[in-house]
Amino acid sequence: MNVRTALVTGASSGIGQATAERLVAEGFRVYGTSRNPAAIPAGARVDGVRYVPLELGSAESAEQCIAEVGAVDVLINNAGESQNGPLEDLPMDAIERVFTTNVVAPVLLTQLVLPGMRQRGYGRVVMVGSMLASFPLAYRSSYVASKAALKAFSTAARGEVAPFGIRLVTVEPGSINTGISERRTKYIADNSVYGPDFQQVLDALDQNEKRGISAERVAHTIVSVVLHRRPRSFYAVGSHAPLVFAARRTLTEGGINRLSNLSHGLRR
Ligand SMILES: NC(=O)c1ccc[n+]([C@@H]2O[C@H](COP(=O)([O-])OP(=O)(O)OC[C@H]3O[C@@H](n4cnc5c(N)ncnc54)[C@H](OP(=O)(O)O)[C@@H]3O)[C@@H](O)[C@H]2O)c1
Repeated sequence: MNVRTALVTGASSGIGQATAERLVAEGFRVYGTSRNPAAIPAGARVDGVRYVPLELGSAESAEQCIAEVGAVDVLINNAGESQNGPLEDLPMDAIERVFTTNVVAPVLLTQLVLPGMRQRGYGRVVMVGSMLASFPLAYRSSYVASKAALKAFSTAARGEVAPFGIRLVTVEPGSINTGISERRTKYIADNSVYGPDFQQVLDALDQNEKRGISAERVAHTIVSVVLHRRPRSFYAVGSHAPLVFAARRTLTEGGINRLSNLSHGLRR
């Protein structure tokens, strides 16, 4: 059988690194991206992964990345920005950037690999979303909206490509202990009225991340999706996903929102 090629965006750390490692172990030819592959520390480099540059903020970079990799059978749209801030204080250029990084660029990469997948009659595209898209949280509106949009692209377009052997799937991680807390982007105006509550949510997010499951557990779910003959359109992993998604079915939209805020220390 031909060796399949997988491209994992954001393979320099966390979930992307663990997914690239697992795909190598499963026998895939694996390409992993970073904005600066030369700067990936030796300890974060996975044997067998070929690193290629990708800046999601640039369409040209996405096109060059796909041109360099060639035929892609499996695309893991994992790289993303974890943006935080009260809606009132979020600069519009930051909102545009998170949508470019978390939605427009992964969609462009998907568009670029679909023709080849269609011709070969096989493809897997996994969108790494966030459980916050299913449980919207205050002070994360731009991030929540971007991950909800990414999921919506995947779910809506799934039926278009399924007849060609291509499966579009969203995987929503809960709190995952990857060190992402240190890499969050944060926007808050000087003396913002939202300051104390914003800090409360950030502290809760940091605590949850520390108590979160490992990136390897998420990688296991992602690679199971890739290997599955008929994967579902949606998976969630971490933060007691089976329990909270079961509870979600019994709640109103307002109830879900209140539960999410309450679990981060906000009574709203
Ligand atoms: N950790 C969590 O609790 C959690 C929960 C839910 C969802 N997620 C989602 O899971 C994904 C991975 O998260 P993680 O925790 O593994 O994060 P991470 O360790 O911070 O890794 C993020 C990766 O994205 C890449 N990246 C960031 N900005 C980029 C840009 N503008 N262009 C290209 N690459 C970029 C980084 O690569 P370079 O810096 O090398 O360029 C890095 O490899 C993200 O989409 C995140 O939103 C994470």
